[in-house]
Amino acid sequence: MQRIAVLTSGGDAPGMNAALRAVVLAADHYGLEVIAFRHGYKGLLENDYFEIKPKDVLHVLQYSGTVIKSARCQRFKEVEAAQQAAANLNALNIGALVVIGGDGSFRGADHLANYWHGQVIGVPGTIDNDLYGTDATIGYATAVAIAMDALDKIRDTADAMDRVFIVEVMGRDAGFIGLGSAMAAGSERMVLPELQKDKPLTIPALVKHIQKVQEIRGEGSYVMVLSEHQWPGGAVALAEQLEAEYHLPCRPCLLGHIQRGGAPAPSDRILASQLGVHAVELILKGHHRVMAGIRGNQCVEVPLRDTWEKKNPLDQNLLRIQHEIFNPVKKKPRI
Ligand code: F6P
Repeated sequence: MQRIAVLTSGGDAPGMNAALRAVVLAADHYGLEVIAFRHGYKGLLENDYFEIKPKDVLHVLQYSGTVIKSARCQRFKEVEAAQQAAANLNALNIGALVVIGGDGSFRGADHLANYWHGQVIGVPGTIDNDLYGTDATIGYATAVAIAMDALDKIRDTADAMDRVFIVEVMGRDAGFIGLGSAMAAGSERMVLPELQKDKPLTIPALVKHIQKVQEIRGEGSYVMVLSEHQWPGGAVALAEQLEAEYHLPCRPCLLGHIQRGGAPAPSDRILASQLGVHAVELILKGHHRVMAGIRGNQCVEVPLRDTWEKKNPLDQNLLRIQHEIFNPVKKKPRI
């Protein structure tokens, strides 16, 4: 094989550029040409590509976003779209495609593999950290660092005015960003999708907890991390309800897409470099329909379907620790 292709797809994640750089430089090392499709699967369908050279990626790893652009492409779910993509890849004489993205992008890659004989390799690029088979996804560490930084700033004003803040973080259906940022910033409470199933948030229970923390710990401010989609109307609606129904001074804050920008964290740059190179090595070893992942510092390959069909649970030890931190008791236990 002489030619491979690469694209970035779905929500961009800090470190995607570093992964792209690693793919291009490793391919160059092994004498492979690389074609980059712009705007993910959209570019693949529209034949929007260019030959990407080492000079195009030499100084991109310090930037978030993706220099070859990304997009969400609903059309790619159709059979005709996968067939069209296969025809385009064959016409360009491409032997393998590296898809840098999240679960939606991997589903697209798997769908393509039903209609194309080339190798399909995934590289996990999403802030959500919601892909099975890898200890972390590219972008997650940066998103947590950004959310932590924002929570620290919120704390300054919350503390000054003895206010309650509801800070909404991203993560789609997973609570990794919520857990990581709440813990790193010392929040009083976190509401995560995984915990909601057993014990859904209610306003009376939240008010009781706020009062308990304020009474027992003598703390004026209360910062709660709310994972997105966990309350109808999100942080804004919840803050309004708390003020209206319980007269608690409460403000909402939506961190939104700032969680996907800025300089990628060192660990994301390193992870992306490892996985980008690993993806090329997997191609050379003949792997197909797998994601390049990291498990306990070892590069691994994970069947593409497993990455979304199986689930990475939240760290139970961290949840236990958070539970103890969040729940003050009045009486000291007798030892
Ligand atoms: O999957 C990454 C992510 O940032 C999620 O955390 C979030 O729910 C979603 O993408 C936002 O998507 P968009 O950028 O298309 O609004």
